[in-house]
Amino acid sequence: MKAIAVYDDGDEPVLIEKPRPEPTAGEALVRTLRVGVDGTDHEVIAGGHGGSPADDDHLVLGHEAVGVIEDPNDTPFEVGDLVVPTVRRSPNGANEYFARGEPDMAPEGYYHERGIVGAHGFMAEYFTSPAECLIEVPPELAEWGFLVEPASITEKALDHAAASRSAFRWNPESALVLGNGSLGLLTVAMLDAEFERVYCLGRRERPDVTIDVIESLGATYVNSNETPVPAVPGAYEPMDFIYEATGYAPHAFETIEALAPNGVGALLGVPGDWEFEIDGGRLHREFVLHNKALVGSVNSGYHHFEAAVDRLGGLDGSFLEDLVTGVYGLDEFEAAFVDDDTTIKTAVEFAEYEER
Ligand code: NAP
Ligand code: BGC
Ligand code: ZN
Repeated sequence: MKAIAVYDDGDEPVLIEKPRPEPTAGEALVRTLRVGVDGTDHEVIAGGHGGSPADDDHLVLGHEAVGVIEDPNDTPFEVGDLVVPTVRRSPNGANEYFARGEPDMAPEGYYHERGIVGAHGFMAEYFTSPAECLIEVPPELAEWGFLVEPASITEKALDHAAASRSAFRWNPESALVLGNGSLGLLTVAMLDAEFERVYCLGRRERPDVTIDVIESLGATYVNSNETPVPAVPGAYEPMDFIYEATGYAPHAFETIEALAPNGVGALLGVPGDWEFEIDGGRLHREFVLHNKALVGSVNSGYHHFEAAVDRLGGLDGSFLEDLVTGVYGLDEFEAAFVDDDTTIKTAVEFAEYEER
């Protein structure tokens, strides 16, 4: 079968041949339909994040997949069921985090991430997966099911942010998303129903496709060249919730300044090492005297996938058409990895969905 991989000594995705995997007991065989590409894939390809399985010199890419069950192999699935795989797998048999159903809370060393670190991903014509790591999705999501995984990332961040505010009556109205990449824009759409006013910060000038998407959602674009994050409360309003999806490390600390009293910021970006100066005393004081919170959030749990399925089903079809700027077949897969100013979200299509 065909797969898209990056070699340890390479810096671009290549098409390779691999044997079709055989499901072992408890695993189903899935025929891949579409696999999305995000900022993490670009970091993995550049060698800045993740790594190949220990016994291989390459990594099959892809962690945002949707597919159909080809062979249930005695699992509860039926041939033709539409499924989305979760990302994390336990490296050496079960550990307590996986046993508890909380793989997303496992610390480094206690997980592999398919297509990212230690385990091959889903960018192949077929993949196998333990049945409990496959989330069934309705046929209406065949086209957009590769967005379930990124949406689940935001569901988890919202879950943890709300939990940090659960000790008092928190009635958030304003939300700011930092970053107008694919995760940032998907999150703007997801926040629309929960917050009265949603803002999204980027560093682009008009005309720009991402600004068009932000405004078509009824959200407000904040140009960080004119209004850096600490200036947002003065120029717009203090924010009850901030979602950082830039990977720009100063934003983690600037978030504290842009939050309203009792607000919470969720940090999603994964920057490399980066030294810079901050006024630690001022930020510490601000944090304490205004009951602010910051939560870091990575990966997502099974219930976040389920919440993402529901949430995606409610998003406007025209928004999804605008967000996904390209879906490419295997004959032009390279186009899915182009990252220019007209590209927002892309996917590779391995097969078309045929309802059975
Ligand atoms: P992406 O497509 O690269 O998006 C990042 C966006 O941030 C880009 O639009 C970029 O703008 C913008 N940006 C970067 N620095 C900025 C700055 N200084 N000021 C204003 N805007 C800035 O990546 P993505 O897929 O959306 O993911 C976003 C981040 O979340 C990445 O760091 C990724 O690693 C991380 N992530 C984390 C998780 C998790 O589980 N925690 C899951 C998925 C992704 P330009 O396009 O104009 O350069
Ligand atoms: C993936 C997550 C993963 C994270 C860190 C993200 O792009 O969506 O599933 O945990 O990267 O590797
Ligand atoms: Zn991702």
